[in-house]
Amino acid sequence: MCGIVGYTGPKEAYPIVITGLKRLEYRGYDSTGVALLNGGLKVYKKKGRVADLEAAVLGENLHAHTGIGHTRWATHGEPSDVNAHPHLSASGKLAMIHNGIIENYAQLKKELSNKGYVFKSETDTEVLLNFIEDIRENNQCDLEEAVRVALKRVTGAYVILLVDQDQPDTIIAARKGSPLVIGVGKGEHFLGSDASPMLEYTKEVVYVNDYELAIVKPNELILKNLGNEKLTPFVTKLDMELAAIEKGGYDHFMLKEIFEQPLTIHDCLRGRLDANAGTITMSGVANNIEHFKNAGRIIIVACGTSWHAGLVAEYIIEELCRIPVEVEYASEFRYRNPVINKGDIIFAISQSGETADTLVAIERAKEQGAIIFGIVNVVGSSIARISDGGAYTHAGPEIGVASTKAFTGQLAVLTMVALKIAKEKGRISDERYQQLLVELEAVPEKVAAILKNAPAIKAIAEKYKGATDALFLGRGYNFPIALEGALKLKEISYIHAEGYPAAEMKHGPIALVDENLPVVFVATKDAYHEKIVSNIQEIKARKGQVIAIITEEDDLIPALANEVFYVPPADEIIAPMLSCIPLQLLSYYMGVARGVDVDKPRNLAKSVTVE
Ligand code: AGP
Ligand code: GLU
Repeated sequence: MCGIVGYTGPKEAYPIVITGLKRLEYRGYDSTGVALLNGGLKVYKKKGRVADLEAAVLGENLHAHTGIGHTRWATHGEPSDVNAHPHLSASGKLAMIHNGIIENYAQLKKELSNKGYVFKSETDTEVLLNFIEDIRENNQCDLEEAVRVALKRVTGAYVILLVDQDQPDTIIAARKGSPLVIGVGKGEHFLGSDASPMLEYTKEVVYVNDYELAIVKPNELILKNLGNEKLTPFVTKLDMELAAIEKGGYDHFMLKEIFEQPLTIHDCLRGRLDANAGTITMSGVANNIEHFKNAGRIIIVACGTSWHAGLVAEYIIEELCRIPVEVEYASEFRYRNPVINKGDIIFAISQSGETADTLVAIERAKEQGAIIFGIVNVVGSSIARISDGGAYTHAGPEIGVASTKAFTGQLAVLTMVALKIAKEKGRISDERYQQLLVELEAVPEKVAAILKNAPAIKAIAEKYKGATDALFLGRGYNFPIALEGALKLKEISYIHAEGYPAAEMKHGPIALVDENLPVVFVATKDAYHEKIVSNIQEIKARKGQVIAIITEEDDLIPALANEVFYVPPADEIIAPMLSCIPLQLLSYYMGVARGVDVDKPRNLAKSVTVE
């Protein structure tokens, strides 16, 4: 949550900060603000999008060589001008931006209020800032030391960037639990929640770790731990181009990312899957192969769409590898007392690699001796770094808040992992293994074929855009896809939607069915096809509007459904990678038809770095 940008160097800071904020707006867009050091300390902030702030500062003297900026996803206090970051300290000398939550802020606020501090905003951030200022004044220490002392008292998660009007070329930064990247340029430094604000300036970056503090000046980057020991910054090379984070002619990132999937799935398979040779090369699995072969259980932890990928994986892994699989919401797993046995492997699935609940869940499991296998999209992210092994999804930057291409990347990786383990364990016949490799290799082409028919989905969306509710039903491998279709529709169109196993609808949801209810069936051909055909009959008998995603050769459902959308034939294990595509398109077109800003739907943030 929340995007953070900073710059110090010879260039004008404001344009760099504001462009960076636009790229990070996917992380939060409740309010925007910047602090600039130009002689004194100036703060401009406003409720709303980055564009609202830009309009508000027109005509101001924004000249500065050091600046910080923030785009907020509110946790403490409603989105408003006052609660927007940066916050100023009581003396007006310090300005700070913050990503995360200070959990013990109420206690600290009480202590400060007793000393006479008055707070302008409702945020936890302003409390931490004044706490730092109070320590500086009372301990007569420098700002860096005050930050260190303060952070030792703080519980919660944070990235902070702090500037002091008396140190006009310095940004102090610290992190625990939220991401922070520092770009190293020639005589300049960039800071960001991810690397996107610095892409056109430098490819050399330092990923700051938890409990580290950085003192950043144009010509100097000092990294320390909270014990004041100097650390050597580990500079890595960015493998990302500017074009990857631009819309490339599409109206929205979400649409661009949906249409990128033939390529991103291909990239995910490339160098790993070779159907001709009959091989899957995945070093993350190979390096841990004995663990996988002997695993008593696989526990998958994830949130949201990534959790849905985990559910598909449960079906695939149990079928192919005969290893018991449990799929857990990370937010639940981390707070209960789960039984983790020696030999259990934890799969952490995450697009961002920064989701707070998933991160903490695997930290806990690691403490108990579990092996962590990360399936992550963002290279170098926190989850990727604390995993013992893993596989990147290689989908490239996903900017639309709704996860699309990362999901199909996750499914592709998980299918390869399952196939590789099954093969190593001798659990799969050569014929079935070879058949699935060939089918997997054909997925990008089949996805491209589905995308060619996008106008058909657009027409369906137009027809049903007035719906207030929707049901999504699927069986077997397509059950998680029904859940995913419902989640996508909710977040992008604000239509209330629920996903269920198709047969389960008789145990309650069927009461909702009437002539106004669209019921989306994910009904591609599988071993139990006739069962879902019966479920469709049951909905039709109650006058529901059936929209069915079906296999090209299906000769039963077209006669029953109000709308059908065809996907190419595929094995049932592979089918989810195809059947999810029309549902992504459906939510996108519904959202657009209903006037939703689909890349930035209300109340959401791309990366949920608070629990
Ligand atoms: C998906 O469309 C969502 N916006 C959300 O559910 C997301 O999948 C979830 O927050 C998990 O994120 P992660 O994959 O980055 O961990
Ligand atoms: N907790 C802070 C606030 O509510 C920061 C939230 C964020 O990460 O944007 O303002």
